[in-house]
Amino acid sequence: MPTIDDVLAKIDANQTDALARLFALLAIPSISADPAHFPDCDSAADWLVRELGGLGFDVAKRQTKGRPMVVGHAKAKRRDAPHVLFYGHYDVQPPDPLNLWKTPPFEPQLVEADSGQRIVARGAADDKGQLMTFVEACRAFGETGGLPCNVSVLFEGEEETGSPSLPAFMAENASELKADIMLVCDTSMWDKQTPAITTMLRGMVFEEVILRAANRDLHSGLYGGAAINPIHVLSGILAELHDDNGAVALPGFYDGVEELPEEIAAQWRDLDFDGGEFLGKVGLAVPAGEKGRSTLEMIWSRPTCDVNGIVGGYTGVGAKTVLPAIASAKVSFRLVGKQNPEKIAQSFRAFVKARLPADVRAEFIAHGGSPAIVLPTKSEALRRARRALEAEWGKPPLLIGSGGSIPIVGVFKRELNMDALMVGFGLDDDSIHSPNEKYERSSFHKGARSWARLLAALAA
Ligand code: BES
Ligand code: MN
Ligand code: MN
Repeated sequence: MPTIDDVLAKIDANQTDALARLFALLAIPSISADPAHFPDCDSAADWLVRELGGLGFDVAKRQTKGRPMVVGHAKAKRRDAPHVLFYGHYDVQPPDPLNLWKTPPFEPQLVEADSGQRIVARGAADDKGQLMTFVEACRAFGETGGLPCNVSVLFEGEEETGSPSLPAFMAENASELKADIMLVCDTSMWDKQTPAITTMLRGMVFEEVILRAANRDLHSGLYGGAAINPIHVLSGILAELHDDNGAVALPGFYDGVEELPEEIAAQWRDLDFDGGEFLGKVGLAVPAGEKGRSTLEMIWSRPTCDVNGIVGGYTGVGAKTVLPAIASAKVSFRLVGKQNPEKIAQSFRAFVKARLPADVRAEFIAHGGSPAIVLPTKSEALRRARRALEAEWGKPPLLIGSGGSIPIVGVFKRELNMDALMVGFGLDDDSIHSPNEKYERSSFHKGARSWARLLAALAA
């Protein structure tokens, strides 16, 4: 009978090949936001199908209205073993701005840094490197006598665009996807030495607003003064979205937002989070959110509104005296507690419409929404996961929140009543969604070892 140490030794022995496999996946520019890269999304899905097929999974690429899903199943060597569903996403964010990358985003590199070796490429940490930690753990079990759990995997190709095809796919394949627990590797560690289990994620609503005024762009000398400028209107409305205390001014926005339970607040105080250091690392000093809230609350447990992009008029080199016909903005809201994504989208639209002057029309494009997630902080699976992670890292994992969003977790809870165990090996300085994204080689290696221990612990 092979032991967990045999499996871990196999992961160690496979390291060089594992890196080559990850690099092959990272070289595929599977950018889900960009139609020009839809074929690459298919290639990434095909790559994963081949990879899992090679590990003995019964696996297929499954079409949706958008990018395909990859679904695979593999049986445990034991009959009565628990059934886990592992989720990851093979799509990545656009690499823009390209000129800030030190090496091309889809030519993965192993780079020496003071902290150790790092894997640099778009998707290294979000989420290809992370999902491959699980695949490598499965490979090592396969090479040492078989899986301890029945394992299903679901790899999505639209996470970075709000998972639009997921609810329908899940409804149509509910019985196939139902498992005892969902495992997710798309979150962060506390720091490079300290593992973490994420039990809270913020939800999100994403809206695009387009304001139109004149029927064409105008000469700002001949028309300026008389013709209304939609950039002025838009920026005025956007400026009204926050009040002087940094709170979001949409009517009803805070419905469903509750104060942190004292138990969690106490846990967070124990975390010893240094807000000054957190902002200092990105060149900032003063927390800019709601007055009277700690930095940790601002990023984990309070809702937000951010303008993610704004476009209008002439933005090329030099000067051009144009009075534009159109101005647009992309606006997202991070949600907590029981905030309702639908209601907040409606409130935003009403807020804009109520402020439109004569001659300006608004059009809205919805880019999806998902509610916040709060997972139980006491369960048998969590207890086992804590012990498994402690065995690998030499200290117990911290239970943390995260300001990011992973829409699928809420969908699985609501539709299939499945709780997720979110264990990730990302770090704050991985620069996910930014230029020069990286994943620590130690995250990749010890991540795979952690999943091996976790699967064994869940099965024991
Ligand atoms: N993996 C991230 C979210 C994340 C990062 C959670 C780090 C916890 C720690 C995910 O890929 C992501 O970027 N999600 C988007 C979701 C959106 C596009 C619906 C986000 O949070 O902006
Ligand atoms: Mn991700
Ligand atoms: Mn992401």
